[in-house]
Amino acid sequence: MRTIDWNDESNSIVMIDQTLLPMEYKIIECRTLESLCEGITSLRVRGAPALGAAGAFGIALAATLSNADDMDILTEELKAAAHRIKATRPTAVNLAWGVDRTISAIPDAYNLDGIRDVVLAEAKNIADEDVKTNKKLGKHGARLLDDGDTVMTHCNAGRMACVDWGTALGVIRSAVDAGKEINVIACETRPLNQGGRITTWELMQDNIPVTLITDSMSGHVMNNGMVDKVIVGADRITGDAVFNKIGTYTHSVLAREHEIPFFVAAPISTFDPNNWEDTVTIEQRDSKELRFFRDLQIAPADVKVYNPAFDATPMENVTAVITEKGVFYPPFLLDELIA
Ligand code: MRU
Repeated sequence: MRTIDWNDESNSIVMIDQTLLPMEYKIIECRTLESLCEGITSLRVRGAPALGAAGAFGIALAATLSNADDMDILTEELKAAAHRIKATRPTAVNLAWGVDRTISAIPDAYNLDGIRDVVLAEAKNIADEDVKTNKKLGKHGARLLDDGDTVMTHCNAGRMACVDWGTALGVIRSAVDAGKEINVIACETRPLNQGGRITTWELMQDNIPVTLITDSMSGHVMNNGMVDKVIVGADRITGDAVFNKIGTYTHSVLAREHEIPFFVAAPISTFDPNNWEDTVTIEQRDSKELRFFRDLQIAPADVKVYNPAFDATPMENVTAVITEKGVFYPPFLLDELIA
C-alpha cells in the first residue's frame, strides 16, 4: 500500500507506522486530529512529501469530523486545524504546503458538504500527484547515473518518505528500471536510523543491492573510491541552502573534497522562495533520542543533549537539484525555477 492514504469506508487516514520498521510492518489508522498530530511528531509518518500528504489529509479529516452547521464556522475550524497541523514539525515545508493547498480549495465549495468534498478531493489529488511527480523526477535524475555506479544516500528519501516511489531513491529506482546496475551505500542516520531501518529495508524489497554504513564512515568510503555519486532528498530548499536530515551537510563537504557529484532530489513543493538559510527554523528533537535507543539507555540519563533534526547544506556544495521539471545546476534563481 501507499505510505499514507485515505480510507473511504472509515473516513480516516491510514499509514504505515514507520517507527516499527523493519521489525514490524503495521498499518495504523488516524481517526482524530490528535492521533494524526501524534503520528507526525513521533515520525510514524515522516519525510517531506509524505508530510505534505499527511497535512492535506489532516484537513480532510478535520472537515469530516466537524459538526459545524455553517460554512463560515467550518472554515474557521479548518483554519484552526491547519494551524495545529503545521505546528507539529517546522522544517519540512511540504507539510505547510499540503495544508495550505487544501485550505485554498475551500472557496470552490457552495455548501457545507461541498467544503468536505473539495478538501478531501484536493488531499487525494496531492497524494496522487506526489507519485506522478516522483516518477517524473526519477526519470530526469536517472540520466545522471551511470551503469555500475555506487550511490551514497542519507536518511530515507524513498517511497516511505513520499506517498510512493521516492525522490532520491526514486532516482535510483528509475535508473534500475532503465536497465542500469546501481549499488547503494546507505548511511544509518543517527539518531533515529531512518537509513539503517527504512532505506535498507525498502531497497532490499526491490532487490537493489545496498550496503549499510554508519554516518561517520562516509569520509572513509569516499576517500577509498567506493562512492561515485551522492543523492539525498530535501525538507526545504531556500535560495542559498538545502535543508535535509542532520548529517547531510557533512556528506556534502566530504563529497566536495573528494570531487564526487552531490545531487539533491526534491519536488518543486519543497522549494521555499520566501526564506533564506538564516530564517528557517530547524526542528529540535527530544533529548531522549540520544540518551536512549528505543528502551535501551545508551548515555547518562541526565547528560546535556543537542539534537537538531536537520542541517543546512550551502548551495555551493550542491552539484544539481533534480526536480519534476528537470535538473537545475546552481546558481539558479528560485523564483524562475518555481514559476
Ligand atoms: O525527520 P524525517 O525522517 O522526516 O527526515 C526526513 C528527511 O530528512 C528526508 O531526507 C527528506 O524529508 C526528504 S524525503 C523525500
